[in-house]
Amino acid sequence: MSRIAPHGGKLVNRELSGKESGEAKARAKKLPVLVLSDRELCDLEMIATGAMSPLEGFMTKDDYEACLNQKRLANGLVWTLPVTKSITSEEKTKISNEKEVAFADSKGALLASLEVREIFPHDKKKQAQAVYGTVDEAHPGVAQIFKMGEFFIGGKISLFQHPVYSDFNEYRMDPKQTREYFQKKNWGTIVAFQTRNPIHRAHEYLTKCALETVDGLMIHPLVGETKSDDVPARVRMECYKVLIEKYYPKDHVLLSVFPAAMRYAGPREAVWHAICRKNYGCTHFIVGRDHAGCNKPDGKSYYGTYDAQRIFDEFKAEEIGIEIYRFEHSFYDKKTGGIVSFKTAPAEAEQLSVSGTKLREMLRAGELPPPEITRPEVAKILIEAMREKAGSKT
Ligand code: ADX
Repeated sequence: MSRIAPHGGKLVNRELSGKESGEAKARAKKLPVLVLSDRELCDLEMIATGAMSPLEGFMTKDDYEACLNQKRLANGLVWTLPVTKSITSEEKTKISNEKEVAFADSKGALLASLEVREIFPHDKKKQAQAVYGTVDEAHPGVAQIFKMGEFFIGGKISLFQHPVYSDFNEYRMDPKQTREYFQKKNWGTIVAFQTRNPIHRAHEYLTKCALETVDGLMIHPLVGETKSDDVPARVRMECYKVLIEKYYPKDHVLLSVFPAAMRYAGPREAVWHAICRKNYGCTHFIVGRDHAGCNKPDGKSYYGTYDAQRIFDEFKAEEIGIEIYRFEHSFYDKKTGGIVSFKTAPAEAEQLSVSGTKLREMLRAGELPPPEITRPEVAKILIEAMREKAGSKT
């Protein structure tokens, strides 16, 4: 049974239930209300359910600064991404004497309250440089920072109304539920696979290599906010389902969604992704090439190909807690007729490669890419999604 301890030792639960939640909701109606962005909403849910254990709320200054400067929380635990609620100067003025505020989603539904510990300034350039290694606004994560308010509000949260979603409800499992699931399945070792893309053959290779050595595989696609040119989660989910149905051992695979928003922070995000998956009860985590990376306008990545693996060397293995499966660039080798990686390929290997741009062009034209790159069942879903998108634009 998966007995891996959550980060910090205890699974956080900031979700109120029963009478307590009714009372908190009634109280919140009298509080000043702050509206959460899509990303903050994802964070709120993840804090409340323990996916971000040991965080119990939005970061206060000591945690925020330790995170930027040392990749840790103030208590020394490894933590690489800021988890913050930003506010504007006007909002700051409105709530400056309040001990508690309420959070609402963009439609105005009240969801949670926050015990105000601190309001502190947001040094945007400092954060961008520390987290993304750049202040280039072409970077989607940096662009997000520059759109945020000038201050942060930090403190413990209490969720009294779980966000309501219209999609993937049967795939939404919080850490308590995935842990229970692993226990029921009697899986002692579980590898998690983070993805924001359809699963192509190289991804399939990584997941199956990893599964060879553990009891279960959790395919854990990120379904929070992504950049506009990423394949939408709705389409990706169809791809994952068809792929698992036909090409994976269903008894050893769990498809469940990761509600987080994508940051594109490369190495720092890889550590954060791993730690969150530890909270979900996974014992192993896959980090391949350019994990959570993104490209500059010139097509080159903001990060080195294996930076997201090397960052783990900055910490002791026990500080991370979840074991990292590192994979080198994987591809179909025409010479040996199989998927290999730079590590396992023979010297004379000949990579079958189709660039992302070419792949999109083929799909747009309704052409199936080589099956060694993408399974036809997946390609067909992507072709259909592109047709729908093109149709909706005319
Ligand atoms: S990510 O932003 O979630 O990292 P993606 O869904 O493309 O993007 O990747 C999921 C995981 O697969 C990441 O760990 C990434 O490093 C790895 N990966 C993707 N493609 C390859 C590849 N061809 N070779 C090795 N690793 C890969």
